[in-house]
Amino acid sequence: MTDSAATDSSMTDPSGGSMSDTVIVQSSWVDTGQGTVDRRIFSDQAIYQQELKRVFARGWNFICHESQIPESGCFFLSYIGEDQVIAVRDREGGLQVLLNSCPHRGNTVCRSEQGKARSFFCSYHGWNFDLDGKLVGVPGYKDFYRQQLDKQALGLQSAAKVESYKGFVFASLDKDAPDLKSYLGWVGRLGLDLIAERGDMEVIDGIQKNRIKCNWKLAVDNLFDWYHPKVSHGSAERIGMLDEKDLRYMNQMVMLGEFGHAIAGGDLTDEHLAEIEKTVAAGGKPDNPTDRAQVWRTTEAAKQALGPVGVRCYGHPNIFPNLWVSAVGPPQVCLRIPRGPFETELWWFTFVDKNQTDKEKAAVARVAGHIFGPSGLLEQDDGENWSHSTRGSVGAVTGQRPINFSMGLGLDKMTADVSGQNHVKSVVNEHAQLWLYRAWQDWMAADDWAQLRDKHSLPPDGVV
Ligand code: FES
Ligand SMILES: [Fe+2]
Repeated sequence: MTDSAATDSSMTDPSGGSMSDTVIVQSSWVDTGQGTVDRRIFSDQAIYQQELKRVFARGWNFICHESQIPESGCFFLSYIGEDQVIAVRDREGGLQVLLNSCPHRGNTVCRSEQGKARSFFCSYHGWNFDLDGKLVGVPGYKDFYRQQLDKQALGLQSAAKVESYKGFVFASLDKDAPDLKSYLGWVGRLGLDLIAERGDMEVIDGIQKNRIKCNWKLAVDNLFDWYHPKVSHGSAERIGMLDEKDLRYMNQMVMLGEFGHAIAGGDLTDEHLAEIEKTVAAGGKPDNPTDRAQVWRTTEAAKQALGPVGVRCYGHPNIFPNLWVSAVGPPQVCLRIPRGPFETELWWFTFVDKNQTDKEKAAVARVAGHIFGPSGLLEQDDGENWSHSTRGSVGAVTGQRPINFSMGLGLDKMTADVSGQNHVKSVVNEHAQLWLYRAWQDWMAADDWAQLRDKHSLPPDGVV
């Protein structure tokens, strides 16, 4: 991109050093007054490289769930942007997130997606790393290196910060990132609670991974989009795969959080929840599956954890930048991992309650697999649209015309709740999508966490 309004020639490396990369900052990428977004943010290579540093390396990224690495030595290979990381339990059972790159020549030291290891052995020259990343074995240390090698300094690089929220493991490569709980804020925490509070949750084996030729941001903004299902997923509705009741929640509730987290989707309403509660109190079960899937919300513990507004939330949360908590159907989360501006890898993690029977767990996996992931009917509908939208950002002329997120702009207002769970109540709208891009612009413009903390957009308290 050559017509940047403002550039500077240096940026802060999240790991503490200084990089010489040119930084692109253009305040008109996202026009919050018009509700438009510059298409070039989906296709420009320089913008993409800057995202990897300023969004992914700086932010907190979901890595895995603790149930996937239950014991010392258990590991799971994951990503922060394009940086591959190993999440592993060390010898004391602590959570480690290590960059999967040998300091000798850069080779990966772990090639398996998941498993149990005693150490990480590099297949190139045989350097061996302990579960906390320490370099503990160097072939030829005495004879070839003649004991002149700083083994202390040559361990695997650790993520700057690693924390877990109710079993969800996150890591940041930026030492200045705030603590995870503050980063998530109430909107991010509510998003994760919509799975964590359902029971004693664990991830079932078999992370479904597939690639779609699209920019990662278009996949993310779609999760807030309740405008498209009737059209994009019309065939799924016609064959009876989608319950008409799932599509009826056009009374929308939108929650906007600091740093770009948001939730958009249906409002179950207090009256509807009261009906479900009454049926359960009388010893029965709601008739339709959609309502049966909400029974977990009626316990005192769930109400406490979710809050008076959150308990009604039937929407799709995104933990900025790229974790969709899909809590409306089978409990799943989906990472949208960037693979260049034109490709995104989708990883689906499916959750069950440890106390469910094997038959019940298999049923969750079967339903989940038919909705999203490589065999999911809905994702095939969505993926095609995302690919074509990405393609539409490329042409010399096509790419010049901004895309539009103006639905409801200036027509709705934030409803304050005494609990602090402020939200927009309205019909279908595009507030959360525009919020995502507005936050993305904040992240791209800030040189470091100090600037981002000072200058990031705060959720509006009036008209949105
Ligand atoms: S690259 Fe790992 S030991 Fe040489
Ligand atoms: Fe969809």
